[in-house]
Amino acid sequence: MIWKCLVSLGFLGHAYTSTLPTVTTDVVIIGGGSAGIYTAIQLQRQGKSVFVVEKEDVLGGHTNTFHVPGTNTTFDYGVVSFANISVVNEYFADLGVALRLFDVGVGGTTEYAKLNGGDAAATTTVPSSVSWSNATNVGLALQGYLAQSTKYAPFLTNGFDLPDPVPEELLLPWGAFARKHSIEAFDYTVFSLAQGAGNMLAQPALYVLKYFALYDVQMLAGIKPGFLTTAAHNNHALYDAALARLQAGANGSAVALSSNVTRITRSASSVSVSVSTPGGASTVHAKELVIAIPPTLPNLMSLGLDLTPTERALSAQFNNSYYWDMVIAGTGIPDNLFISAVDFAAPDAIPAQPGLYGVGSGVDGLALGYFGSAHYMSDAQVKAATVAALGRLARANGWGNGTFAPVFVAFHSHAPFLLTVDVEAVRTGFYRRLNALQGVKRTWWTGAAWQTQDSSLIWNFTEAVVLPRLLESLR
Ligand SMILES: Cc1cc2nc3c(=O)[nH]c(=O)nc-3n(C[C@H](O)[C@H](O)[C@H](O)COP(=O)(O)OP(=O)(O)OC[C@H]3O[C@@H](n4cnc5c(N)ncnc54)[C@H](O)[C@@H]3O)c2cc1C
Ligand SMILES: *[C@@H]1O[C@H](CO)[C@@H](O)[C@H](O)[C@H]1NC(C)=O
Ligand SMILES: *[C@@H]1O[C@H](CO)[C@@H](O)[C@H](O)[C@H]1NC(C)=O
Ligand SMILES: *[C@@H]1O[C@H](CO)[C@@H](O)[C@H](O)[C@H]1NC(C)=O
Ligand SMILES: *[C@@H]1O[C@H](CO)[C@@H](O)[C@H](O)[C@H]1NC(C)=O
Ligand SMILES: *[C@@H]1O[C@H](CO)[C@@H](O)[C@H](O)[C@H]1NC(C)=O
Ligand SMILES: *[C@@H]1O[C@H](CO)[C@@H](O)[C@H](O)[C@H]1NC(C)=O
Ligand SMILES: *[C@@H]1O[C@H](CO)[C@@H](O)[C@H](O)[C@H]1NC(C)=O
Ligand SMILES: *[C@@H]1O[C@H](CO)[C@@H](O)[C@H](O)[C@H]1NC(C)=O
Repeated sequence: MIWKCLVSLGFLGHAYTSTLPTVTTDVVIIGGGSAGIYTAIQLQRQGKSVFVVEKEDVLGGHTNTFHVPGTNTTFDYGVVSFANISVVNEYFADLGVALRLFDVGVGGTTEYAKLNGGDAAATTTVPSSVSWSNATNVGLALQGYLAQSTKYAPFLTNGFDLPDPVPEELLLPWGAFARKHSIEAFDYTVFSLAQGAGNMLAQPALYVLKYFALYDVQMLAGIKPGFLTTAAHNNHALYDAALARLQAGANGSAVALSSNVTRITRSASSVSVSVSTPGGASTVHAKELVIAIPPTLPNLMSLGLDLTPTERALSAQFNNSYYWDMVIAGTGIPDNLFISAVDFAAPDAIPAQPGLYGVGSGVDGLALGYFGSAHYMSDAQVKAATVAALGRLARANGWGNGTFAPVFVAFHSHAPFLLTVDVEAVRTGFYRRLNALQGVKRTWWTGAAWQTQDSSLIWNFTEAVVLPRLLESLR
């Protein structure tokens, strides 16, 4: 294939002045993150040619792996854990990346502090007035959550496969749903594990049940095996292996990193994609198109996509939360201690957003930090709020001892994060219409908006829902 030649000439990903030729491929995939790369690797295995366009200079999307300077060690501060299911085990085995059990809660202690607002942030234990201070209460609430998650699993396992009418209680704000089923004592666990959901208690129950999914609660209940992580604490190795395999060009695969899609024109029989790569402009002719980026209207418009009226109307309805992760030096927080944000004056002690979810538990004096907001904030605003919280924490706990000097050694915005629509839209068939976009104009859709923010479940959804029909269409 022509792409193999171009790759082996070092053409892709390098500054080059001439223009790429027009190329032909089976499937062009926009977005080289969790969903796009899973799709690419599976199609390549099926003997299909794929062309992946990724705007960043690396693959992997939300997967962030930190290389500790001066050492040969890495740790993950973005995507950390995977479900122990066949799709995950087979994918990692295929790419030669070893997995091990991820010991939730092992290797550190958790303390609680009011990290947001002007208060001193001394760490504290959880007062007995808080329902989740009591393990019996949490255990009962976990069983209650499991019952609800099991009840709705037929509609929520792969995608939003909702019945008509949509069960009204799925449209209740999560806080009301949890009260109705007396499972509030589990809310803080969900808040701290399923991060980045904006104001979780206000989100429709549908999105919380999707995000903190059946596998997660079954795993905590001991019904399903524990989460997995990479043996080397280097989840990015999956994407390094995928990039190497795709760039080797087998079955006509190619990857364009640091590249932008500038125009997409679709007909009933083919797709034409204009790509601006560091090596010049190129036109890719494909049989099928996979869109594996968050399908907000601004994102789709930025591709120069010839939107149908339905695509435009649906994508315009997405709202989204904001989520950041970071690695910070000089916080004074002892290694292996994680400080989880609380507000004991708030319902379920869940602190208002925007703010930190928690900070700490790094190694070698490096702390991990996670910050969420329901509304837009600039990176500078998030850093300023984080430094203020760290200062209160260090002063109140006597950490840092005059050496408090936080430095962000890694920092990423993961917005737009959780994509949601208004409950009225859900009620009137938003997801039925969204699902009906699959295959229209030879366009296929996957990623977090179609499933939830969970790589394992996105791969499972892609495998179960998208790939069979896409492969059928290619025949
Ligand atoms: C801090 C953090 C921790 C997480 N932890 C876990 C975890 O432990 N376990 C888990 O299962 N999930 C976790 N998740 C969720 C997981 O990352 C997501 O479910 C998954 O990455 C979403 O996959 P996606 O393909 O939809 O999006 P992404 O992985 O974000 O991929 C989208 C890709 O498209 C690219 N792109 C965007 N726009 C364009 C464009 N115009 N042109 C070309 N390319 C474009 C992006 O650069 C990106 O590479 C975590 C997420 C975050 C942020
Ligand atoms: C290429 O496709 C063939 C099937 O046609 C498959 O056996 C092979 O594994 C594929 N190569 C890669 C690298 O996926
Ligand atoms: C660095 O770590 C990786 C993964 O653990 C290992 O494969 C490699 O051999 C190590 N390199 C050195 C120089 O120690
Ligand atoms: C995944 O779960 C299976 C079944 O419980 C278990 O045998 C296997 O060891 C687990 N995988 C890892 C890497 O722990
Ligand atoms: C925990 O709550 C249960 C009821 O849910 C109660 O019986 C028990 O006494 C409580 N334990 C403590 C230590 O307060
Ligand atoms: C892609 O778009 C970004 C943002 O507009 C721009 O900075 C970059 O130069 C573009 N790259 C290419 C190869 O067109
Ligand atoms: C988006 O979500 C935020 C936070 O929940 C909310 O305040 C806002 O009204 C929502 N916007 C739309 C258009 O629904
Ligand atoms: C602060 O430094 C002093 C003098 O070096 C030391 O005795 C003390 O234990 C330190 N305190 C903390 C909290 O690290
Ligand atoms: C993965 O998808 C299959 C259907 O193909 C489904 O039966 C299974 O429950 C899904 N796994 C999870 C963890 O959701």
